[in-house]
Amino acid sequence: MSDSTRVLGAPVVRREGRDKVTGTARYAAEHTSADCLYGWIVPATVPTGRVTAIRTADALAVPGVHTVLTHDNAPRLKEPDDPILAVLQDDRVPHRGWPVALVLAESLEAARAGASAVHAEYTTTGHDVVLTGDHPGLYIPEEANGGHPGLRERGDAMRAFEAAPVRIDATYTLHGLHNHPMEPHASTARWSDGHLTVHDSSQGSTAVRNSLATALGLDRNRITVVSEHVGGGFGSKGTPRPQSVLAAMAARHTGRPVQLALPRRYMAAIVGHRAPTLQRVRLGADRDGVLSSVSHEIVTQTSRIKEFVEQAAVPARVMYASPHSRTEHRVAALDVPSPSWMRAPGEASGMYALESAMDELACALGIDPVELRLRNEPQAEPDSGRPFSSRNLAACLTQGAARFGWNDRDPRPAAREEGPWLLGTGVASATYPVLVSRSAASAQAAPDGSYRVRVNTTDIGTGARTVLAQIAASVLGTDPENVQVDVGSSDLPTASVAGGSSGTASWGSAVHKAATALVRRLAEHTGPLPPDGLTVTADTGDETAQESPYARHAFGAHFAEVAVDSLTGEVRVRRLLGMYAAGRILNSRTARSQFIGGMVMGLGMALTEGSTMDPAFGDFTESDLASYHVPSCADVPDIQAHWIDEDDPHLNPMGSKGIGEIGIVGTAAALGNAVRHATGARLRTLPLTPDKLLPYLP
Ligand code: MOS
Repeated sequence: MSDSTRVLGAPVVRREGRDKVTGTARYAAEHTSADCLYGWIVPATVPTGRVTAIRTADALAVPGVHTVLTHDNAPRLKEPDDPILAVLQDDRVPHRGWPVALVLAESLEAARAGASAVHAEYTTTGHDVVLTGDHPGLYIPEEANGGHPGLRERGDAMRAFEAAPVRIDATYTLHGLHNHPMEPHASTARWSDGHLTVHDSSQGSTAVRNSLATALGLDRNRITVVSEHVGGGFGSKGTPRPQSVLAAMAARHTGRPVQLALPRRYMAAIVGHRAPTLQRVRLGADRDGVLSSVSHEIVTQTSRIKEFVEQAAVPARVMYASPHSRTEHRVAALDVPSPSWMRAPGEASGMYALESAMDELACALGIDPVELRLRNEPQAEPDSGRPFSSRNLAACLTQGAARFGWNDRDPRPAAREEGPWLLGTGVASATYPVLVSRSAASAQAAPDGSYRVRVNTTDIGTGARTVLAQIAASVLGTDPENVQVDVGSSDLPTASVAGGSSGTASWGSAVHKAATALVRRLAEHTGPLPPDGLTVTADTGDETAQESPYARHAFGAHFAEVAVDSLTGEVRVRRLLGMYAAGRILNSRTARSQFIGGMVMGLGMALTEGSTMDPAFGDFTESDLASYHVPSCADVPDIQAHWIDEDDPHLNPMGSKGIGEIGIVGTAAALGNAVRHATGARLRTLPLTPDKLLPYLP
């Protein structure tokens, strides 16, 4: 019998790691066969308007081109559950890059050549793609994402702000950001005897199956969606994307399997973006740094076809004690592609502004920024008044500071030089909510003493299979290697999407419940097991329907050291250190990897990533990796993730909080604060590229 405390938390190696590094793991675009057709999308080349004519004769004349689908001849869909999936149904062009045709050919090359030979004509109606703080279309939505109220007020934040002896009033700007998972979005669809099978690059194949059933007007049990290996998603694969509908539609229409992989250049318009935000933060405090007023106002954009509101003011409802608070979102619907989920939506963007403003307040008061945060620790969640199930932000700040070597910091700006380099350090807090969704799982004991867990988890690169084996093994009293884990098919017991940092908690709870029931069944059983073993299935519907009386969040603290080249304005990150309080860490190896991955993404947000909207073309200017810069290994010399042992009994049977997103939250603020410390320049627009810094350097 293995000891559950040894299994949970152990640095168990990711089980599919060898398959991935040896190339035997197959991704959605790789499930092709000799009879497969390859698809290539024709994107709209105008920002908004209508297709008046679309001529396909030249495309059909390209050798190898089999079919061209347009709104004239594409099969009709039922109304999909997401308007972005209503592709090739009418002549509307809601934004540039919207698919107006799909070319299907015997080879990828022929499909691509065919796509360039499709001639589309449009009428355009004038477009509105630039977000401004005074856009006439701005309104307060009833809800921002996650069901959070668009506006929350406690007390009278404006009055308290005006009365405060120390005030910070600053506006921060984040450009749009793009998810660029290593594996672009792809689907391979085939019909066989009236059954549709789609290999899809998705964060949740059950959701894709359900969406396809709605759009195609099919019974759910006639569709299987498989997402066996997924090369990252970060939210962009958290909801079904048009390529799955197009591939399924085309396979049905042609009677052939169809593979459709998005070229990277098309992703920015099709797979969602983190919407730009203009964020005004007002903090009022006394001379000891105790906050009396917190106001955080967000201006952001959505598309014309759906309302999607980055909930960036929500973390200000959680973070600091203040008797007066106002948190508001305003959104304008523009002729832009629909924004969507991107790692820590809301928290990543909102905490950049809030944690930068806290640093500004610390500087204004001459109080250490760690100490300032400690002075504003709330007794209960500020907005809801609910007690925290656990809140170890203070421990993250103080223990992180000790590990980082923060405490002998000279607070004066631009005081440390090393040749042409100006050196500085910065800190910021992090938070991410504890989310959990209903899931089901089965657990089977085989006569040979092995076990098998079945659950439609998606492993998007996090190591979900591995940690679920650990959870099952800890209950079953066996070694994780003795537990087979089947994931990644909608034919398995239904599980929730790999999003909201909720996967391990949601699926793990179902696995834990099934394994616990199996242990009971085995104890009752006498004699040898039947040939197909004993199987039990569990569902967490009852547990997840109950609302917790606690405010449940993970917390963290990020510390950064930067060197700014005073000649070129280049910012180099010397060190990043994250200290987290995220419940029980269930696999120290894969958890560390997720924390670090989030921090690297935060580094990109701070220094290199930013998307600009071309006002004339109505298009994102940075739509490939040559122009949209993500950090490389050389950008990250020393990055550390640590955590405190947090024992929180109000979470789930494993005692875990989510860890997938908190790493990105606050990292950009810590870096911006470090740049300010290094140079004395307080820049409030990301990314901190050399051109922005140069005017402030000696
Ligand atoms: Mo993540 S943005 O919740 O997939």
